[in-house]
Amino acid sequence: MDKFRIEGGRPLEGRVTIGGAKNAALPAMAAALLTAKRVVLRNIPRVRDIITMRSLLDEMGADSSLKGEKQGNRLALQARKIPDPTAPYELVKQMRASVLVLGPLVARFGHARVSLPGGCAIGARPINLHLKGLERLGAKVSIEHGYVEARADRLKGDVFHFDTITVTGTENLMMAAALADGVTVLENAALEPEIEDLAALLNKMGADITGAGTPTIRIRGVSRLEGAEHNIIPDRIETGTFLAAAAITGGHLILDCVEPRHLTAVVAKLAEAGVETRAAAARNTGGPEALEAKMSSPGRAADVTTQEYPGFPTDMQAQYMALATQAHGSSVITETIFENRYLHALELARMGADITVDGRRAVVRGPTRLSGANVQASDLRASASLVLAALAADGESVIDRVYHIDRGYERIEDKLKRVGARIERISEV
Ligand code: EPU
Repeated sequence: MDKFRIEGGRPLEGRVTIGGAKNAALPAMAAALLTAKRVVLRNIPRVRDIITMRSLLDEMGADSSLKGEKQGNRLALQARKIPDPTAPYELVKQMRASVLVLGPLVARFGHARVSLPGGCAIGARPINLHLKGLERLGAKVSIEHGYVEARADRLKGDVFHFDTITVTGTENLMMAAALADGVTVLENAALEPEIEDLAALLNKMGADITGAGTPTIRIRGVSRLEGAEHNIIPDRIETGTFLAAAAITGGHLILDCVEPRHLTAVVAKLAEAGVETRAAAARNTGGPEALEAKMSSPGRAADVTTQEYPGFPTDMQAQYMALATQAHGSSVITETIFENRYLHALELARMGADITVDGRRAVVRGPTRLSGANVQASDLRASASLVLAALAADGESVIDRVYHIDRGYERIEDKLKRVGARIERISEV
């Protein structure tokens, strides 16, 4: 298992290029199952979860080819036939987003078999609403031997109201409804930019979707979908993580290839905490935008509550907590999306942070001097928060289980090294 060794205390200075959004790329890849034609996706991040999704599609019988940075990180997918529409436990347990194949498979092939994901480090994370929604569209759903079995001759459009806002649930049903008979209306849908990006891809494939990015999405089903080419949006969480890295090290970073409109809540909270963020000249004229971040004053405590988009993202909570350890005063963090997303707090405390967790609320008292320590990553964003803390700490830290960070950050150590961090990967075979 790989580890990171980090020598803290160096301000980060320079430019970092942000990759495509993992959480937009995963549903876009699943969408390729909706057509026999070729779907070409650009700006695919080279992260572990994308490799897992590709293995899943390959195993089911799809063809895929991935080209590197020079070709725009281009992934071509073609699912002519899917002999076995099964997402096996071995892959689903590695990545819950595998469940995104459920809607497309039932809609196009009339049958899907997807392992139930089971427990997760950050909360229970059931998929009951994905299943309820598919039933509403006429699928027969049963659970057998740990697998969801869903069958339907042809799905039929209907109105479905989500009791809880769910990102992948909205994506799954949007994809299923794209090939259903008639009109589907999804109410209380998730508003995340990744939903809009998926709808844009599906519409390029010939779907008829309006309202993505609002709480009510209307999908008029079509009988078949075609191939398409699509650029994945920039990763707003990777962007936020590097904004926090600039701030926590007292450095100054310019982030290229970002979409500042997707980071309004994060930028506003960082401003409250004393981090100055502003638009910068993009390196490639005409390309995506750039954002610049630096600490404008000593860090100030600021309370934060995670919310669905456009609120402050739960996927930035752990990184914000690391930053709050350096702020003057007490920051109250309230996690409303997942019930168990504070495992990083205990590890941060091992580095000297003063954090009290009580249920969904955490109080971080700062500033505290962080000192390097051996710590363990528990999930993707928790590991990002430990990297941030280690960058700000005195002395050396060793972060174990960095496979978690590889799931969603592309060679983060290389990007950090280029802007002055002392970080190395220790590979153990
Ligand atoms: N929920 C239900 N029933 C369902 C679905 C969800 O009760 O059928 C609950 C969940 O338990 C949770 C809440 O609804 O309490 C929101 O979960 P959601 O379904 O929105 O999460 P998700 O779709 O499984 C995506 C991201 C996560 C991100 C969340 C919240 C992808 C592939 N994953 O997960 O990303 O934290 O939305 O924004 O898009 C990450 O990248 O680190 C990550 C965990």
